[in-house]
Parts: sequence; structure tokens; C-alpha cells
Amino acid sequence: MGELEGKVALVTGAASGIGLATARRLADEGASVVVVDRDADGGAKAAADVGGRFEQADVGSPEDWARVVASVTATEGRLDLAYLNAGVTTGENDVSQVTDEQYRRIVGANVDGVFYGLRAVVPAIAAAGGGAVVATASIAGLIDFAPDPVYTLTKHAVVGFIRASAPQLAEKGITCNAVCPGIVDTPLVGDEAKAFLKDAGFPLIRPEDIADAVFQAMTGSETGQAFVVQAGREPTAYRFGRVPGPRAKGAEGMAPPAGMAGPSQLD
Ligand SMILES: NC(=O)c1ccc[n+]([C@@H]2O[C@H](COP(=O)([O-])OP(=O)(O)OC[C@H]3O[C@@H](n4cnc5c(N)ncnc54)[C@H](O)[C@@H]3O)[C@@H](O)[C@H]2O)c1
Repeated sequence: MGELEGKVALVTGAASGIGLATARRLADEGASVVVVDRDADGGAKAAADVGGRFEQADVGSPEDWARVVASVTATEGRLDLAYLNAGVTTGENDVSQVTDEQYRRIVGANVDGVFYGLRAVVPAIAAAGGGAVVATASIAGLIDFAPDPVYTLTKHAVVGFIRASAPQLAEKGITCNAVCPGIVDTPLVGDEAKAFLKDAGFPLIRPEDIADAVFQAMTGSETGQAFVVQAGREPTAYRFGRVPGPRAKGAEGMAPPAGMAGPSQLD
């Protein structure tokens, strides 16, 4: 019997790549999986593949989120686990060339999709007695990824949002973590880039390895972490540096008073 028997899991972006591999992994562990994607054909195929149910939705739409979560609680009866994973890139390194349409599309999927998603799933997961939320960021959420500055903007947003949300969600029995993959072998990385990386001998990560990291994050007790996943190594919780604190006399390194900040790491 799998570790997730009796649990209901929702996975966004599950028609392809990392989301599909994770939907398979969660289903293998016994969870009932709800596949959420804007791609109707891919989503239906993925749901059949994992023996789950498909909800077509744009994760950037709050109306779609309300419909999806209402449908899950009505149909599956509960929600325990959510993987907020759908995402896109702009593929544009020159910010002056990014169109309004490209900008709205990426912020819609990568940022709105995580905020609206978290907001929608938390009451349902809390009603089930607690559970776990994982969002896909990227190492581009931790480094200065110059090939796509707007992608970098969105992934830094995900990391900050997940870390800042964790303390309050802990009070509801919900863990909340980000996974930060390096370069994964999925359709998001174009064939040209894959060939370039292969020629350079750079190892791509298997989507199944990200699925393992998501499963570990969902079943572990850690929260507020950004787990880096790279080829050939175990998921590693990223250690954030300490931020310079005040040096005013009598307040050296002091954090803002309780209620004004989370567990800040100030020197
Ligand atoms: N592939 C990588 O190298 C890599 C590295 C780090 C992070 N990531 C992140 O992993 C996540 C999954 O990417 P992937 O590599 O599996 O890509 P993918 O293109 O294989 O899959 C992304 C899926 O998300 C869906 N999607 C996109 N926008 C959507 C929206 N607005 N509403 C609903 N569904 C939407 C797509 O239809 C697709 O099925 C993304 O957030 C991506 O930024 C990928």
C-alpha cells in the first residue's frame, strides 16, 4: 500500500514534463490525482495515464481556481496535497524586447498561478486536517539567470512568497515548500538548447527526479524551504545568507518587532 493511500492531490501543469512525472509518482503512491492544465488534449491524456481526473484551467485565473477547488471537494471529497507547478518562460534575454503579451502570460502562469492557487487550496487542505503545498520555482529563483530576466523575476517571487507563507500555514497543519530545479529534460527546454547542453556535456535532470523531490517535500516535516534539485545529487535545502541588519546604537542586528516581520535572519 502506497504512502498516499486515501489522499487527494492536485497537480498543475500536469499535462507535460515535471507535472506529468509528479502526477504519476503521486498516483503510484496511492493518491487520487487531479490533473490541472490549460492543455485540453494533454491534460485528458495525462489524467487517463495516472488514473485520475482532468480539470482544464488557466492557473492565472481566480475564477478557474474557485471552480477547480469546488469541483475537487465535491467529487473527490477532500484535498490534501497541491503541487503548483504550471509555468512558462519568455525565452527572451533582452527585456526591451519582451512584449506586454509575453509579460502577462508569464506572470499569469508563474506568479498569479501560485498566488491564486495557494489562496484557493489552503481552505480545502485545512478542512481536510492539514497537508502540503509545493510550488515549482527554479534555480532561476535563487540566481541571476540572465538568459531570461523576466522568468527570473517570477521565480524569485515564488521563492519569497512560499517562504513568507510557511509560518502561517504551519498553524493550519500545512507544510509549504518550493522546489528549485536546475535544467530538466522537458519540452520547456527547446531542442536547440538541449543539443547545446548535450554538446557541452552538461547533465539534464530527469523529470522523475523532480517528482521524487516533490514527494519528499510533501511527506516530510520541513516547511518554508527551497529545495534545489540538480543532476546526481539529493534535493538540498538552499541556505539563505544573513541580511545586514541595523547598526543604530542599541539596535545592532535587531529584527523588526514581532508582527512586523517573519523569522528574519539579520546580522
Ligand atoms: N524544464 C526545466 O528545465 C525547468 C527548470 C526549473 C523550473 N522549471 C519549472 O517547472 C515547471 C514545469 O515545467 P516543465 O519543464 O515541466 O514544462 P512543460 O512545458 O513540459 O510543462 C508545463 C505545463 O504547464 C502548463 N501550463 C502553462 N501555463 C499554464 C497556465 N497558465 N495554466 C495551466 N497550465 C499551464 C502547460 O500546458 C504544460 O502542460 C514550470 O514552472 C517551470 O518554470 C522547469
